[in-house]
Amino acid sequence: MARKIIAGNWKMNLLHHEALELVQKVGNYCQQTELNKVEVIVAPTFLDLAAAAYLTKGANLSIAAQNCSEHKQGAFTGEVSLDMIKSAQVNMVIIGHSERRQFFGDTEEVVHTKLQKALSARMIPILCIGESLEDRKSGNHEKIVKQQLQSALRGRAAENLTELIIAYEPVWAIGTGETASPAQAQEMHHFIRKQLNEMYDEAMAARTSILYGGSVKPSNAAELFSQPDINGGLIGGASLKYEDFVSLIEIGKKELR
Ligand code: 13P
Repeated sequence: MARKIIAGNWKMNLLHHEALELVQKVGNYCQQTELNKVEVIVAPTFLDLAAAAYLTKGANLSIAAQNCSEHKQGAFTGEVSLDMIKSAQVNMVIIGHSERRQFFGDTEEVVHTKLQKALSARMIPILCIGESLEDRKSGNHEKIVKQQLQSALRGRAAENLTELIIAYEPVWAIGTGETASPAQAQEMHHFIRKQLNEMYDEAMAARTSILYGGSVKPSNAAELFSQPDINGGLIGGASLKYEDFVSLIEIGKKELR
């Protein structure tokens, strides 16, 4: 059974005090509510990571980093290593987000290296994959997603991937207000699971959580989360508002299987 997950990617939003206030509110909610096996994750910026982990200790809320360096340590100004993230009591990391791929030179090789290092460091990776509008229009979306998946996971055996989380985020649906239709999302999630089955085996494919990301909001979440191959959401904009994020968790509790 795949884990049911509602994750908020805060991206470069919220000032320090705002981030800590929100993480504490979400943490309190998670502590006081029966989550029906839905796991909740939030990913603040590096600046707020350690404090967020400290403030929500024992709260049934996991904290994730939005990125990590592919280097272990040393003269890499501005970078943050996996060991540093771990030392802040954070054991999850988003890898290969399309904004990193688009704006910060995270090539498929870089994404591969970061993923391998995160796995070796026993961190839980949230691997993001997804096609551009151009790929979708030209009918290459499955080919691109398959390539991203194969390239990132290359060389890893199924037993190393027991906690892997995948997020399918079509680039054309991120922050645009345009969502993949539930049918489009289900079709791609099913395709991804089929690839995992071919690359590994049925058990690995069945237990891997595949989250959908791209303009998920309370008004469209129920239809998306009720699709059989969608195990949760990776949410940007709507995760910044406490009421919206909590209502997405509530929808997840009802709809995710
Ligand atoms: P939005 O929900 O703002 O479209 O962002 C999705 C995303 O990129 C999450 O990682």
